[in-house]
Amino acid sequence: MTQVLELDPERPQQEAIELAASTIREGGLVAFPTETVYGLGADAMNEQAVLRIFEAKGRPADNPCIVHVSSRNMLDSVASAVGHQAERLIERFWPGPLTLVVERKMEVAPSVSAGLSTVAVRMPGNRIALELIWAARTPIAAPSANASGRPSPTTAAHVFDDLGPRINLILDGGPTNIGIESTVLDVTTDPPLILRPGWITQQMLSEVIGPVGRGDSDQDLQRSPGTRHRHYSPRAQVILVDQGLTELLERICRQHLKEGAVGFIGHSRLAIDDAMFHSIYLGAHAKDYAHSMYAALRDIDLRNPRVIVVEGIGDSDEGAAVMDRLRRAASR
Ligand code: TXA
Ligand code: MG
Repeated sequence: MTQVLELDPERPQQEAIELAASTIREGGLVAFPTETVYGLGADAMNEQAVLRIFEAKGRPADNPCIVHVSSRNMLDSVASAVGHQAERLIERFWPGPLTLVVERKMEVAPSVSAGLSTVAVRMPGNRIALELIWAARTPIAAPSANASGRPSPTTAAHVFDDLGPRINLILDGGPTNIGIESTVLDVTTDPPLILRPGWITQQMLSEVIGPVGRGDSDQDLQRSPGTRHRHYSPRAQVILVDQGLTELLERICRQHLKEGAVGFIGHSRLAIDDAMFHSIYLGAHAKDYAHSMYAALRDIDLRNPRVIVVEGIGDSDEGAAVMDRLRRAASR
């Protein structure tokens, strides 16, 4: 049976934190909020515990997990080397949504790194997460707490829907602030490479350490195995359309309405009045999309549409992470 505990995100109840920490120390699975999305955590130094994460999510074994730490010192227990560029980024962006890929220590459970010589590490900017790691006194391996291939969870209810009976405990800290996963930056290469775009943009990174590349060649993708798998998908087929093309959006929705229910997620108002048409309107900024799009995909999916038409946003620095996830959701 999965236990769900509601916590005050500003002043987390210590009994709940202690229970969660001892569950982690005993090799159990605890879902917890971060500032990006909910994570499914296990002791990163305990191989049996980490294997349980893969089993619960149905996650392919070749997709490594992110390790979460609560202090700069704890990074040294999993990383064998931290270069000066990483140090500057840590100073600027931790705690926060930046994951750094660094050379790993042998003590880290092997499946965390899925056979790579590196480990991905971040310090989450969320009180519940930080207090949990602190109380567990061990780094916590945690991929997003969704069933593999599904949209990332931004509420405790999303976690329960996907993983309900398969995990020990869910810490409910309310909806996450950012709503989209961290930026993954490989700092073992020169120049460092963005393996997954996120809330911390290429420009923000360059302002601190100079040139930063975008990993998109096949070789780079080998370095971040997770980016090869199907991701972020609801059950319905997702059709992604450029923003602002209101007439085209309406035409596509009407076409599919002939066959059954249709979902729409976007910021342009569509003049469609049909009981089989289910729309969720978002603000037009990248941060509005990041905050609400996973929940919107899940909510509309519950209406069982055949297709979900999604209006994109600009692919600028800020929109890159949102468009990256939407393109993956739309690719089958
Ligand atoms: O915001 C986030 O990053 C959330 C919260 C829970 O922290 N976590 C998250 O984890 O999104 P996950 O497992 O869904 O995504 C981790 C990504 C994957 O694309 C994976 O391939 C990559 O990080 N990754 C992990 N370890 C890596 C490594 N050693 N080298 C390269 N990429 C790595
Ligand atoms: Mg994930």
